Amino acid sequence: MKEFLHTSNPRKLTLVSALALSMAIASATSWAREANTKLTAPTSTAATHNYDYEMNVFHPVQAANGMVATEQNLASQIGLEILKNGGNAVDAAVAIGFSLAVSLPNAGNIGGGGFMLVHDAKSNKTVALDFREKAPAAATETMYQDENGEIIPRKSWYTHQAIGVPGTVAGLTKALEQWGSLPLAEVMQPAIDLAEQGYEVSPTMAKLLQVEKDNLGKWPTTKAIFFDGDEPLALGDTLVQKNLAESLKLIAKEGADAFYKGAIAEEIVRDQEAHDGLITKDDLASYEATEREVVRGDYRGYEIVSMPLPSSGGIHIIQILNAMEHLPIKESGVNSAKTISLMAETMKRAYADRSEYLGDSDFVDVPIQELTSKEYAKAIADEVLKGEITPAQEIKPGDLAPYESDQTTHYSVVDKEGNAVAVTYTLNLNFGSGIVAGETGILMNNEMDDFSAKPGVPNAFGLIGGSANAIEAGKRPLSSMTPTMVLKDGKPWLVTGSPGGARIITTVLQQIVNAIDFGMNPAAATNTPRFHHQWLPDELRLEVGFSPDTIQLLENAGYDVSVKPSMGRTQTIQIIDDTMYGYSDPRNPDGSAIGY
Ligand code: GLY
Repeated sequence: MKEFLHTSNPRKLTLVSALALSMAIASATSWAREANTKLTAPTSTAATHNYDYEMNVFHPVQAANGMVATEQNLASQIGLEILKNGGNAVDAAVAIGFSLAVSLPNAGNIGGGGFMLVHDAKSNKTVALDFREKAPAAATETMYQDENGEIIPRKSWYTHQAIGVPGTVAGLTKALEQWGSLPLAEVMQPAIDLAEQGYEVSPTMAKLLQVEKDNLGKWPTTKAIFFDGDEPLALGDTLVQKNLAESLKLIAKEGADAFYKGAIAEEIVRDQEAHDGLITKDDLASYEATEREVVRGDYRGYEIVSMPLPSSGGIHIIQILNAMEHLPIKESGVNSAKTISLMAETMKRAYADRSEYLGDSDFVDVPIQELTSKEYAKAIADEVLKGEITPAQEIKPGDLAPYESDQTTHYSVVDKEGNAVAVTYTLNLNFGSGIVAGETGILMNNEMDDFSAKPGVPNAFGLIGGSANAIEAGKRPLSSMTPTMVLKDGKPWLVTGSPGGARIITTVLQQIVNAIDFGMNPAAATNTPRFHHQWLPDELRLEVGFSPDTIQLLENAGYDVSVKPSMGRTQTIQIIDDTMYGYSDPRNPDGSAIGY
């Protein structure tokens, strides 16, 4: 073990890649966009709370009646209109969910799945809705292995067998039935219009389409939508999605049954059968979104409510925060080498546990109480406070390789009644499997890759998991998606979440810590550079923006530091008294936080 900050063996600074630099430039210039630059002058109300406007250089958007924060401005506008027209936060969240399927096709979806947290102001309860994809009934533990037990490269990424039974339509329609106030057809109409009329391809989308050209271009049904001839649509082209509009109209008219039992289901199954896919009519007809108990913790007097299994996020956010209560990070300061080390050592231990214990709790026993207990956290903190850097292999045997996918999306909504919604949903990779199912216009997920394709051995992404996350018929793959709320006096104080694969957990963690420990408003908290350690690989990942001195201190201490492009894209709303402060992460320049 090497003692923290006391080794005399400085290593070479990791070179910042050209990509990292271009991300940094994109991030900086994105401040020019309108929605997030409506700077709100400090008011007497804000000044009396935890925002120190002298300290916080960046400022959130401020509103009194309702606020949305999403990664795509068209969807934000649609959500805000719903709120202005009398809809509640769930109405707006459902409208945004369907709209992002049109306007953010790389991650927004109706062919994928996700998680929703709803805080219902009337009952003052927060509930979790799980609409994660499921493995089809015909799925088997070895379905991505050849006859020698070797993983078949990319089979769980870009094939019809990579597709899990989608959950988004069941989730969004169930949320609306349960907590919404407007008819389904009304909240879906803006998405239908957007799909029919089309919208301009942004620089971000043009770039993503180019990156995924080969994966998208091999499927005629996908190419017909996202290409002009043999080239993906380019900046300024209009993306019209007529078939998707027809599917959305069917759902608006017939409800979720159109997707799971009706014409859309038939077309999905026809496409699956034509390409050796496993999803059957029964798989679709039997899919249900599930309401679950949120996972709860407390941190320095605030209540943390987050997503339970099959998300690993809530459990590990609470586990890490519990340990951090014993760590003097306020004294060591935001993003100092000492703070980064204390937090990284805690993160490592949580991610080691993730690989061992976590899977779909409907199928495996997970020691949730133990993992989230204050006693266990104290033991972790005691280890961390020894001030040593523990090599990953000494924490637990096994291996957890990096998970690079971050093509998920998060959005947050708050209304004037005090209802709050946090949604993180995904197709898994960029544009999911890249497969549009037949004539449906619907891009399908490749969420099956979130299972361990072979427990104990890296899957096609290099991700390793234990048998708890092995493939089983009807099981949900383990996720890192972490829609989270921090409550104060029982009411939402912070509503947040992020894409970012395995880095979602540490991104959301830092959003919370920056708010609670360092008194940052959502804008300042978001713009603070992020770091991440996930146990294995034994690498401390830093965003661009850390000082060379800090990096040097960490390297001197023994960390294998790697500076990589941006991490996470949080969409955050903070509520102090009756004022909402929103912020859309400028790491995606297409997003916006807007309120009224
Ligand atoms: N597909 C990424 C996740 O669910 O964590």
